[in-house]
Amino acid sequence: MKISEAKFAGSSTRVQNKPKRHLPEVAFIGRSNVGKSSLINMLCRNGRLAMTSATPGKTKVVNHFIINDSWYLVDLPGYGYAKMGQKGRTELAAVVSDYIFNSEELQLLFVLIDSRHDIGATDLDFLAELGENRIPFAIIFTKCDKKGPNALAAQIERIKEQILQEWEELPPMLVSSSESGAGREEILEYIAQILETQQ
Ligand code: GTP
Ligand code: MG
Repeated sequence: MKISEAKFAGSSTRVQNKPKRHLPEVAFIGRSNVGKSSLINMLCRNGRLAMTSATPGKTKVVNHFIINDSWYLVDLPGYGYAKMGQKGRTELAAVVSDYIFNSEELQLLFVLIDSRHDIGATDLDFLAELGENRIPFAIIFTKCDKKGPNALAAQIERIKEQILQEWEELPPMLVSSSESGAGREEILEYIAQILETQQ
């Protein structure tokens, strides 16, 4: 798929306030600082579309971006940021759950996992919640530029084994780097397939 136009379409903290057009939505979620906003910018080839930051907890609202005037790409706040305090975390979790469980247009959720680390309990709990609520998702391993190819492959294998301790089968999986642009074509192709089958 070619992205010829990507525009900010609105921010919301409640699903009833999201942009009104009934277009398919593809959203990005994952631990705070995993690289959600950077990946959106990389996919859209626009470094300033979604706000990124080295400090976790940057994205605090649901941001819709309209792509090719035909579907929405959605940047979500991260989960699991320890320094935010319980109240802040609970508020952000409510914003995220309200969107994920109530947006009728959501076709696919990409769950981003840092390719450098083992998967954490926070991620596994989040995946379990998606499974229980039958939310379709795929995993993207981010920041793949930070490891050499062998170490990266080994770490991804470890994470797969960790997921298989709780799941009978693995979800679709992709690998990306917002630094190098790796994974861009594969992710856009995967989105195109999903949007086609939903029509
Ligand atoms: P929150 O909005 O706080 O939940 O974070 P986020 O998941 O949107 O992360 P963001 O895109 O803001 O990136 C967090 C940090 O990781 C920034 O310093 C980015 O420059 C860095 N980063 C993101 N993606 C990559 C990547 O693919 N490679 C490298 N090396 N750094 C990355
Ligand atoms: Mg962000």
